Amino acid sequence: MIRMVIDFFLFHLIKLKMIESQGSGDDEATETAPPPSPSVPPRPRQRNPLQKSSVCSRSYFMVVMVFFHVYIINVIALLLYVHYNNGPGEMVVPTRNAASGTNNHKLPESQVQQPGSEFLHHMYLPRIEGIRVGHVQKVSLLPNKVHEMRTLSLKPLLFEIPNFLSEEECRVVMQLAQLKGLMESQVMVPEGQEELTEQLNLSPEEIFNLLDLNQDGQLQLQEILTHSRVRDGIWLTPENLREIYTGLKADKDNNGLLSLEEFRQLSSDAFQRFLQQRGLKSSQMVRNSRHTWLYQGQGAHQVLQDLKKRVTGLTRLPPALVDLSEPLQVVRYEQGGHYHAHHDSGPVYPETACTHTRLAANTSTPFETSCRYITVLFYLNSVEGGGETAFPVADNRTYDEVSLIQNEVDLLDTRKNCDKSNLRVTPTKGTAVFWYNYLSDGRGWVGEQDEYSLHGGCVVTRGTKWVANNWINIDPDYQRQARFQQLVSQLENEDEGAESSPERHTDTHQDL
Ligand code: OGA
Ligand code: CA
Ligand code: FE2
Repeated sequence: MIRMVIDFFLFHLIKLKMIESQGSGDDEATETAPPPSPSVPPRPRQRNPLQKSSVCSRSYFMVVMVFFHVYIINVIALLLYVHYNNGPGEMVVPTRNAASGTNNHKLPESQVQQPGSEFLHHMYLPRIEGIRVGHVQKVSLLPNKVHEMRTLSLKPLLFEIPNFLSEEECRVVMQLAQLKGLMESQVMVPEGQEELTEQLNLSPEEIFNLLDLNQDGQLQLQEILTHSRVRDGIWLTPENLREIYTGLKADKDNNGLLSLEEFRQLSSDAFQRFLQQRGLKSSQMVRNSRHTWLYQGQGAHQVLQDLKKRVTGLTRLPPALVDLSEPLQVVRYEQGGHYHAHHDSGPVYPETACTHTRLAANTSTPFETSCRYITVLFYLNSVEGGGETAFPVADNRTYDEVSLIQNEVDLLDTRKNCDKSNLRVTPTKGTAVFWYNYLSDGRGWVGEQDEYSLHGGCVVTRGTKWVANNWINIDPDYQRQARFQQLVSQLENEDEGAESSPERHTDTHQDL
């Protein structure tokens, strides 16, 4: 950039010189021209061409100088913009082990985390630039090793880093998870949903109206499907919905639609009870896998602590934010396992609370989401068949929830339609992918949910699949995140001197 400025300046100086010398050249030409014919009056001797030329060049010089100054100001502004856009976060938060990740964006001395220091007000979350799909940037996350980070999509902002984990690290993480024991990722019928419906006390008409997305007074198959997934985690397909209609004699006129009259005759859990009576298989659920959580703080296995440091370096986020996020989730899919397309974290409305900052919430609300700003997904093994991570609408021109299920093709169904996804990542041992589940608010903090971050795990057709998730939780409500961190630091100060225990730390997290 500086070179460009110098070149620009030199170019204009040379041009200026050339004009000046051109001006004197003209004079010479007048001197050597043949004597004017007698009919032409001789040019008055007192005319001084040199003077005119110097006036010209002076004004030209002025113009160039003004232009040059404006240019310099622009360059400085650009440099400042780039610096603040890529620079490390300024959040200074107390942490127990505030080791910053090794990356090429080192924190300046003044910004190194000081345990026990106060929370600054100008927090800033750096966001990595994707540039364009296929763009590769080198990142230094480990001494003597350079990783390549490739942009896979811009919507969502998604990157892939091969060899993020060594073979040995993958093995350790899988073994630690096995040692701890994995549990079913989805219990067959989650509780709590009925409670919410009862709390809201909705009439069948009101429910019908909510489900009738296109407000045509009929419930199409896809309107029922979209609802059922959110409600009880049972994954209905258009085929088994038709089966249910037949079994329950719900669609009297057999037109594939439910009218309000037909809907009113069904009890609120009719579909669910019908399926349960027939026997539900785990392949009929939103998710079919087992998982466990591994704590990564002080006292944890060195591989897990190293991994957290590397993730901090990769995301360039303030270490305290990574420290206070969920533990590592390790997931195992058996042959036939899958995870239908979903968002790792929901939209945030003013009344939505974040699970991780509940401690600092002033009011209680029935709406809660996990506020996972970033997902870092590690592939711990290479899968023999299937098991890709699909992003159905990555870099789509538009996002339209209704058109995700159209003409019997359900783009969210990773058992059937992964081949129709815009993007699929093949699991390769040691590779990490990471993406932002939220946009920026344009002021260096978390903004709206990025709907394009929709993704799922395609069905494993051969062998098993092991992955791990590191989620970085950040509350889009800046004040709540700040209060939460202050609260944690107070608790830590009260605890001063006492040995910190892993149990204490995980208390602030919910085992999801
Ligand atoms: C998840 C997830 C994708 C995969 O665990 O949240 O989306 O490929 N996993 O397993
Ligand atoms: Ca309708
Ligand atoms: Fe996910």
